[in-house]
Amino acid sequence: MTKLTGRADRLETPTNFPKSVILETQELTHRFDKFTAVDGLNISVAPGEVFGLLGPNGAGKSTVIKMLTTLLPPSSGRATIAGYDVTHQSQAVRRAIGYVPQALSADGSLTGYENLLIFAKLYDIPSKRRQQRIRDVLEFMGLEEAAHRLVRNYSGGMIRKLEIAQSILHRPQIMFLDEPTVGLDPVARSQVWNLVQELRADYGTTIFLTTHFLEEADSLCNRVAIMNRGKVIATGTPTDLKAGLDKPNATLDDVFIQYTGAELASGVSYHDTARTRRNAQRLG
Ligand SMILES: Nc1ncnc2c1ncn2[C@@H]1O[C@H](COP(=O)(O)OP(=O)(O)OP(=O)(O)O)[C@@H](O)[C@H]1O
Ligand SMILES: [Mg+2]
Repeated sequence: MTKLTGRADRLETPTNFPKSVILETQELTHRFDKFTAVDGLNISVAPGEVFGLLGPNGAGKSTVIKMLTTLLPPSSGRATIAGYDVTHQSQAVRRAIGYVPQALSADGSLTGYENLLIFAKLYDIPSKRRQQRIRDVLEFMGLEEAAHRLVRNYSGGMIRKLEIAQSILHRPQIMFLDEPTVGLDPVARSQVWNLVQELRADYGTTIFLTTHFLEEADSLCNRVAIMNRGKVIATGTPTDLKAGLDKPNATLDDVFIQYTGAELASGVSYHDTARTRRNAQRLG
C-alpha cells in the first residue's frame, strides 16, 4: 500500500461553482419533529470531485447523507444525483450510488465473501458475473486472503475496507462515505484514504465524504463545505478557505474554528480533540 498522496495529485476541478454537476441540492431541509437538523442546504458537486462535508458533532452531516442516499425523505427542498430526483426517482438514485454508513454495518457472523455475495444479489449483479465482480473488489481492497474468515475477527480497518468493497460492487458513479476512517489507526486510515483516491483515479468515481480529520480533508478534498447547526456556512477549496483568513499559515482547523465558533480549551486544536474522541471510540 502506498502512502497518502498529497495535494499535487488533485484533479483539476472548478474552484467555485461546478460547471458540470453530478449532485445538486436546493434548499434541502430535514426536520425531526420541530427540530430542523438540515436547514436549506444548497450545494453542488462536479463529476470526479472529492467533496468533504465538515462540521461539529450534531451539525447535520449524516442527516444530509441519509437524504442524498434516499434513506430519509427531505421535509422540503430537493436533491438530484446523476440527474435523478432523490424523492421521485429513488430507485435510479440507488443504482447510481454507493454508501458506507457512519456505524459499522457488515455482518460479523458471515465471512467477507458472504457479505459481498449478499450485496451482489442486492444490486442485481447477474449470477454469471457475480464471482468475477467479487474477486475484483476483493483484490482492489487487498482483502483476498481474509475473504473466507468471519468478519467478527476482522480489524476495524478491514471491516471498513470490506464495506467500501460492498458499496462499489455495482460500480457506482458516486460514493457516500460517512466518517470512513472513524476509529482506525493511522496506517489503516491512510490505506482507506488511499483507496478512496484510487477509486476516483481508476474509475472516475465522485466521492462525497464526511470526516473530523481536517488535515486529511485538506489534502484529499477538492472542495469542502463547513456545516454548523444544519446550515452550510462556507464552501470552497481548502486553499481558498485558508487564504480567506487573516492569518499566515492558516490550517483548515483555523478555518473550522473561525466559521463554527468552536469553543476549545486553550492550546487544544480541534484536530487533537477529534483524534482523542476517535481513539476513545471502539468499533464493532
Ligand atoms: N432520528 C433522529 N431523531 C431526532 N433527532 C435526530 C435523529 N437523527 C439525528 N438527529 C439530530 O439531528 C442533528 C444532526 O444529527 P447528525 O447525525 O446529522 O449530525 P452529524 O453532523 O452527522 O454529527 P456527528 O459528527 O456526531 O456524526 C443532531 O442534533 C441529532 O441529535
Ligand atoms: Mg454523523
